[in-house]
Amino acid sequence: MRSLGTSTAASSLVLAAALASAQVLTWDQAYQRATSDLQKLTQDEKIGMVTGVTWMGGPCVGNTYAPQSIPYPSLCLQDGPLSSRFANPITVFPAGINAGATWDRDLIRARGAAMSAEAKGLGVNVQLGPALGALGKIPSAGRNWEGFSSDPYLMGIATGEAIKGMQGSGVQACAKHFLLNEQEHNRETISSNPDDRTLHELYLWPFYDAVKANVASVMCSYNKVHGTWACENDELLNGILKGELGFKGHLISDWNAQHSTVLSANSGLDMTMPGSDFSTPPGSIYWGQNLAAAISNGSVPQSRLDDMVTRVLAGWYLVGQDKDHPPVAFSSWDGGAASVNVTTPAHGDLARTIARDSIVLLKNARKALPLKKPASLAVIGSDAIVNPNGANACPDRGCNNGTLAQGWGSGTGEFPYLVAPLSAIQEKLAGTRTKIVTSTTDDAAAGAEAARAAETAIVFINSDSGEGYITVEGHAGDRNNLDPWHDGNALVQAVARTNRPTIVVVHSVGAILLETILAEPNVVAIVWAGLPGQESGHALTDILFGDTSPSGKLPYTIGKTEADYGAHWTTELVDNFAEGLFIDYRHFDQAGIKPRYEFGFGLSYTTFKYSTLATAVNVAPGPTTGKTIVGGPEDLFDIVGTVSAYVRNSGRVTGAEVAQLYIGYPDSAPSTPPKQLRGFSKINLVPGQSGQAIFELRRRDISYWDVATKKWVVPKGKFKVYVGSSSRDIRLKGSFTV
Ligand code: BGC
Repeated sequence: MRSLGTSTAASSLVLAAALASAQVLTWDQAYQRATSDLQKLTQDEKIGMVTGVTWMGGPCVGNTYAPQSIPYPSLCLQDGPLSSRFANPITVFPAGINAGATWDRDLIRARGAAMSAEAKGLGVNVQLGPALGALGKIPSAGRNWEGFSSDPYLMGIATGEAIKGMQGSGVQACAKHFLLNEQEHNRETISSNPDDRTLHELYLWPFYDAVKANVASVMCSYNKVHGTWACENDELLNGILKGELGFKGHLISDWNAQHSTVLSANSGLDMTMPGSDFSTPPGSIYWGQNLAAAISNGSVPQSRLDDMVTRVLAGWYLVGQDKDHPPVAFSSWDGGAASVNVTTPAHGDLARTIARDSIVLLKNARKALPLKKPASLAVIGSDAIVNPNGANACPDRGCNNGTLAQGWGSGTGEFPYLVAPLSAIQEKLAGTRTKIVTSTTDDAAAGAEAARAAETAIVFINSDSGEGYITVEGHAGDRNNLDPWHDGNALVQAVARTNRPTIVVVHSVGAILLETILAEPNVVAIVWAGLPGQESGHALTDILFGDTSPSGKLPYTIGKTEADYGAHWTTELVDNFAEGLFIDYRHFDQAGIKPRYEFGFGLSYTTFKYSTLATAVNVAPGPTTGKTIVGGPEDLFDIVGTVSAYVRNSGRVTGAEVAQLYIGYPDSAPSTPPKQLRGFSKINLVPGQSGQAIFELRRRDISYWDVATKKWVVPKGKFKVYVGSSSRDIRLKGSFTV
C-alpha cells in the first residue's frame, strides 16, 4: 500500500506555488494606501466603487464601476466555495463538506490556494467563499454541503486554512453568509433569533477564525436576525462584526439582500450586490444615486462613504491586486469559455487527493474492503455513471441524474470532465480477469439481476440538496427527508437479497438514514463518498481497491432517525433557535441518544492504538483582557496549554488517523455540551510507527461566552479531557484544573 496521507505531493506543489506568489500586506499598510487613494476620488467614483452595475451588467456575477482617477478596476466578484462558477475550463474541487471530512489542514489550505490561483488567472478579485454559514444545525438544510462541518471548531479551523490559501494566491476571500441563514425555506423572510451565548459559541465562532485569518470580504445574508435584516442590522454588523471581531475588510450584501439605502449604509454595509434586484429592467436600486442623495441630505455621513471605499480598497491592496492582477478572462453569461486555461494537472491531482482522503468508511464487515480481485463485480445504480445528458446538463447542477459530485446552486462549477465510478472501476480492472456486470438505472429488479450474475455487488445511492432558487424532484433547496433519493433503499434491498456481498457507496450532501440498508445482513460495507468533485471515480477506486487506506471522518452525525436530531427546517417566519448550544453531536450527547455513526467516526484498513496522554495548561480563570484587534480580543487566540498523546499504527497497512480532542467544561460554567471538539491532528503512519498528536489549546477553546459581561470567560474548576478516534470512541481520559 502506498504511503499517502497528509501533505502529499499534489498539495505541497500547490502550496509552494501559492506561497511564491503571495504578496500580503498588513492591514495598516493596506489602509495607508487606501487612504491616500481616497483623496483622489470624486464623489461619483466613490459611489460607483460600492455599487454593483446590476445583475448581468458585467462579466462576473458581481461587478462594480471602475473609477478613472486611480488605477483600480471594475471589481470582479465571482462564486464560489469550490470552483469559479460558470467559467470553463475550471477545476471542480470536492465540496466544502468533503474538505472538512479530510480533517487535513494542509489539504484544505492547498484546496483554497489552487481554487484561487485559478480564479486569479481568470481575473477574479473577490471569490465568494468559503461558506461557513449555514453551520448546519438542520441536517436537511440545503446548503450545509458548501461548508466544512456542523461543528464550529472544525468549521473554524477549515475556514482559516481556506482563507489563508485563497488570499495567499492573491484573491480576496469572502466569508459567507453572515449570519444565521440556516435553511433555504423562506430564507429571504425568516428571522433567526438565537440567544447571545449560542450566537457566539456556535454561529459566530467560525467567523472569528475568518477575521483572524485576515479575510478581506464578508457577505451578509438574506434572513433577518432578531427581526432586522442581516444587511441592515447595526448590532450585528457595526456592533459585532466590525466591533467585537475587529473586521477591517468590506462587507457586501448577498445578491438582492439589501432592503434600504440609509439604514444599510449606517448599519455597516460597504458594498451592494449585484447593484439592483433581479428584475429587468433593474428594479430597486438602493445605492448608486440614491446613496449620493442620502449623503447630500445628511442622512448618511460622508465619513461613512469614505469608510466604505477605504475598506474596499484596503482588501484589494491587502492581497496585492494592485500588482499584475490579470484582466477578467471570461463571461458568466455566454457559456463561460475562458480565454486562458487556468487548470493544471497538479490541481486535478489535488482534487483527487482531497476526494480520496475525504472518503469515510462507515462499515466494513467480513473484510469486504479492500476488494480482492473478485471473479466478477456488479456495478449498480444510476449514480455509477455520468448523467447521460452530460455532467453539466442542468444549470447550476440543478438536477440529480447520474453520479452526484456537487450539490446545486450558486456554489457550483462547470465540470471540465467528471470521472464516474463505473469508468474508474473499468479503468482499474482493465487487463484483469474480473468481469464487470452493470445495471446503470435505479430499477430494483434490474439491479438484482446484475447482482445475480456476479460474485460481489457495489450499489450506488445518493441524496442531493442545494440553494432554494431551484427545486429538484420536489426538494426546494432543503431536503424533504434524509432518505436516499430514487428509492435507493429498495435498490439496495433487492441487490442484497440476492445473497451477494453488497457494498453500498453513498454520494450525499449530508447525513442520510441508513437503517433500512443496515437491516440487510448482506450489506457488508458502506462507503461515504460525499460530493467528491470531478475526480470522483478515481478517488473512490483508490479506496475500494486498497491503494490507500480510508482516512476521512464524519464532519457531522448520522442519526438513526431524523427526529433524533431535534432540528428540522421550519415554514414559520421565526426560528428561535430553541435548541441553543445543542446541535448535532452536542444534542445527541446531551439527550443521551445513540447515533448510528457519531461525529468524527470513520474506519480504516489498519488499526491505531492510543497512549501517553499529557496535559499542560497554564491560565488564570476569568475574562479576556486584551484590546480588540483583527479577530477579537488580543488574548483570545493565545495558546494557553497543550494536550498530547501518542498514536501507533498497530495494523498491517499504512494509514492516517485523525486523533481528536474533546473538552468538557467544569460545572462553574453555565450549562455546556458534555464534550466539544477542541483539537484534531491527522497523522500518517506506516505499520508499527508511532506519532505524537499535539493539540494546542487557545484561550477561546476553554472559554464560554458570558452574556452578562459580554466577554469570553475561562471558567474556574476541573476540565475533562477526552482524546480519541471519534466523539464516542474515546481512548484516553484526563483532566486539568484552572
Ligand atoms: C447566494 C450567494 C452567492 C450569490 C451570488 C446568492 O444567491 O446566496 O452565496 O454568492 O447568490 O451568486
